Amino acid sequence: MMNVLKSLFLATIVSAGATSLSAEEAKSSQLESLYKQVRIQDVQENAVKMVGDDWMLITAGAPEKFNSMTASWGGFGVWNKPVAFILVHPKRYTYQLLEKEEYFTLSFYDEKYRSLLKELFGTKSGRDTDKVKESGFTPIKMKPAGMAYAEARLIVVCKKIYADKTQNENRIPPKETPEGAEFHKLYFGEIVSVWMKK
Ligand SMILES: Cc1cc2nc3c(=O)[nH]c(=O)nc-3n(C[C@H](O)[C@H](O)[C@H](O)COP(=O)(O)O)c2cc1C
Repeated sequence: MMNVLKSLFLATIVSAGATSLSAEEAKSSQLESLYKQVRIQDVQENAVKMVGDDWMLITAGAPEKFNSMTASWGGFGVWNKPVAFILVHPKRYTYQLLEKEEYFTLSFYDEKYRSLLKELFGTKSGRDTDKVKESGFTPIKMKPAGMAYAEARLIVVCKKIYADKTQNENRIPPKETPEGAEFHKLYFGEIVSVWMKK
């Protein structure tokens, strides 16, 4: 009896936070029917506006457990290969999943979703909120890996290649901060696939 209660309790905790999809649900996603694969070089948009003004969702994790947060710090460039970079504070729940998994996705949305990006994905935490359930977004399993949402107009799949915690002594000029303060971690991801809504 105690074991049954314990499993029920654990199941409640798991379902309260980050989203999980069964293998069957994840497989049923129709990536190729909704999106065409393009090269990042062929995305004719202003990267500073896309990230800084319109914002993006960073999604980390695997179909069994994933979470998304809004981000407006980051960008695209070249480091031997086409790359994206993001800056994520260790306090974010997404950070834990980013640390664990090899891939993450960056997804971009039309203006009509701005309030969801601000009030839900950019304010609440996946620790205690199922953001997929609250947003009504449709999870989609990406190739070669990673999760995103079928409401996105553009999805960039990245494979982590470098990560480092930013330090205020490395700022130019260095910045005084309270002892023990934590700073954003910088991640570079190789862009492994790019998907544009058909
Ligand atoms: C417009 C906007 C931009 C944001 N940009 C970033 C960012 O670049 N890096 C970051 O660590 N947090 C950023 N945040 C904060 C996170 O989105 C927020 O803390 C979120 O609730 C974290 O969710 P999580 O705990 O589920 O990961 C931003 C929030 C908003 C509203």
